[in-house]
Amino acid sequence: MRRDAGAPARTQAAGMLPARRTRPFRGPERPTVPSRRLESPGDSFKGHLGRCAIRVKGQFFMTTQQTASSDAPAGSGAETLTIVDNRTGRSYELPITDDTIRATDLRQIKVNDSDFGMMTYDPAFMNTASCRSAVTYLDGDHGVLRYRGYPIEQLAEKSSFLEVAYLLVNGELPNQAQLDTWVHEITHHTFVHENVRTFMQGFRYDAHPMGMLESSVGMLSTLYPESKDITDAEVNDLQIIRLIAKMPTLGAFAYRHITGKPFVYPNNELSYSENFLSMLFTTGVPKYEPDPRLVRALDVLFILHADHEQNCSTSAVRSVGSSQVDPYSAVTAGIAALYGPLHGGANEAVLQMLRRIKTVDNIPDFIEGVKGGKERLMGFGHRVYKNFDPRATIIKKACDDVFEVTGVNPLLSIAVELEKIALQDEYFVKRKLYPNVDFYSGLIYEALGMPADMFTVLFAIGRTPGWVAQWKEMLGDKEQKISRPRQVYIGAGERDYVEIGAR
Ligand code: CMC
Repeated sequence: MRRDAGAPARTQAAGMLPARRTRPFRGPERPTVPSRRLESPGDSFKGHLGRCAIRVKGQFFMTTQQTASSDAPAGSGAETLTIVDNRTGRSYELPITDDTIRATDLRQIKVNDSDFGMMTYDPAFMNTASCRSAVTYLDGDHGVLRYRGYPIEQLAEKSSFLEVAYLLVNGELPNQAQLDTWVHEITHHTFVHENVRTFMQGFRYDAHPMGMLESSVGMLSTLYPESKDITDAEVNDLQIIRLIAKMPTLGAFAYRHITGKPFVYPNNELSYSENFLSMLFTTGVPKYEPDPRLVRALDVLFILHADHEQNCSTSAVRSVGSSQVDPYSAVTAGIAALYGPLHGGANEAVLQMLRRIKTVDNIPDFIEGVKGGKERLMGFGHRVYKNFDPRATIIKKACDDVFEVTGVNPLLSIAVELEKIALQDEYFVKRKLYPNVDFYSGLIYEALGMPADMFTVLFAIGRTPGWVAQWKEMLGDKEQKISRPRQVYIGAGERDYVEIGAR
């Protein structure tokens, strides 16, 4: 098990060595053995029966030669997993590739020939890899995040959002000419069809901007019918550019609509983030000229949100995209998933929470409520990070730069104290709950002048390059088919229809 020298002290002090979830690509695949059924349990299993790694009561158990305990005889070194089905006494040897077995290899495990075969049951995909991806590496146990191999810390310090978008979509950092072309193309696709403007004006005055964004991105598919041809790489590349380019325009239009202000059209002389701020906040003359430190902070926030491997919204994009629908429809699914309070909606919830807490003195009461199960500490915890979210650390630093320009948000002191208390509290320590990306991002967004219901829109703009990069990767993956999970049916057996008068 690898341990990162830079891992924060708390994990190491507690002596925890949590299981690895993802690992870097280890070079060309080693040859794998085809799965096969062994003649008898004893075939490859002698001496292993008392040391099974996983036991499923009364059904079957698994062991892997790689994870045998230290007093066990050394394994054969074979990259295989042996399974004995105690219902039948049969053994099966399955190939292991990149620490995974193929779920479909389990289907050969049957009691009789008419049996459907063994499946895995994994609600919420807690331990199931749905794809092979080269886009983002995330080691949640050690707080590591890399896009295409580049550490997030370096990208946040040295890169720009559009350069990172190019990296995610194309796999490599661009040279100067490639970057210039990319920026030019994105910049010149920021305008939207006038029908989009009238479409958005049809929303009620108090519509949530995420609802407006979701609908208007879906609407784009009707304006670009050629986007349905997802077999044409050139057509796909154009839609990718359009999506990244138009997202800020749609987000800004949504904001202008709910604030009753006229829409501001894109300005091709401005950078991506500057242009977004200008479309949000320009009010006639003099022109809106944002402080460059604020522009940079927004660019960094977009970089931090650009991708996060197979999270809820990205899985939604891949899943819906696997039906071969156009990318606007697939990305709409991602926006819908992001809208939820457990995903992108958390930063909005963090500010509401901080406002409710009101003063530092109220924190202990609030923490007791969380521990008593009354509510969650929003902006804390993560499915993958069981350590500091590296994005949260970068955002906390960015807060200082922004507050230098805007003045300190009084909610910051509550957030800092809340974090301090939670990180020392047994409840959070035991569950490995740390601040995530959303804990401080809302404070910055607010300082930039954004109303809370725009926060998730900002997340969506930042996440778009990740969604389209993952969508593009999925299209090129010969192993992918239409997404279609299995189920374990627990409903009624066959029964006869009962006439309504007899029920
Ligand atoms: N406050 C209090 N308790 C928590 C929290 C929290 N924020 N998060 C998890 N727990 C507890 C949970 O009650 C459970 O305790 P027990 O074992 O006693 O039942 C344990 O920790 C494990 O939680 P879980 O719900 O099984 O963990 P999960 O991996 O399913 O959920 C999460 C991950 C992000 C949905 C969750 O931590 C959460 O709801 N956090 C607050 C919402 C939030 O900040 N979301 C933003 C995530 S980062 C941005 C993004 O990627 O979208």
